[in-house]
Amino acid sequence: MRPGDAPVRTSPRDVLRTRQIRSGSDLLAARQAVRAAAVEAGFDLVGQTKVVTAASELVRNAYVYGGGGTMGITPIVAPSGRRGLRLDVSDHGPGIFDVEAALVDGFSTGAGPGHGLGGARRLVDEFRIDTAVGRGTTVTVVRWAP
Ligand SMILES: Nc1ncnc2c1ncn2[C@@H]1O[C@H](COP(=O)(O)OP(=O)(O)OP(=O)(O)O)[C@@H](O)[C@H]1O
Ligand SMILES: [Mg+2]
Repeated sequence: MRPGDAPVRTSPRDVLRTRQIRSGSDLLAARQAVRAAAVEAGFDLVGQTKVVTAASELVRNAYVYGGGGTMGITPIVAPSGRRGLRLDVSDHGPGIFDVEAALVDGFSTGAGPGHGLGGARRLVDEFRIDTAVGRGTTVTVVRWAP
């Protein structure tokens, strides 16, 4: 984060689009919605691809582990005028038992290679996981346009 970019204040009211994640085809639609929002927010092609890839990993986790959920896409503007996107990916699944472990590359309780969460974190500027065992998970990420 560069000086002048923080703090970012947004409220649930600011969420432009909330996508449901209930089926395999919703995963594709979610990717396309993030791509479109990134283009609108002035992201270059590399930035678009990074934020779309991060979103893809998070919605896939919400689908596979969380039994589905939602993704909020929020365009944000820093006090410096810099634009970005915030994504809130939520599910009401089992939660993540050990967040530190889940972020380590190669850790998976499923069939995946276990690179999703750690990879997503490296592709964004801000990354936060709120999770409660038995209640669900929300991963919030921010990426700024260049
Ligand atoms: N939304 C979620 N709800 C519950 N557990 C989750 C959730 N997201 C991730 N996890 C847990 O964290 C682990 C690591 O997730 P990560 O996305 O890094 O790897 P993966 O999904 O197992 O494999 P990959 O994403 O590389 O295909 C998962 O195996 C799962 O145990
Ligand atoms: Mg994953």
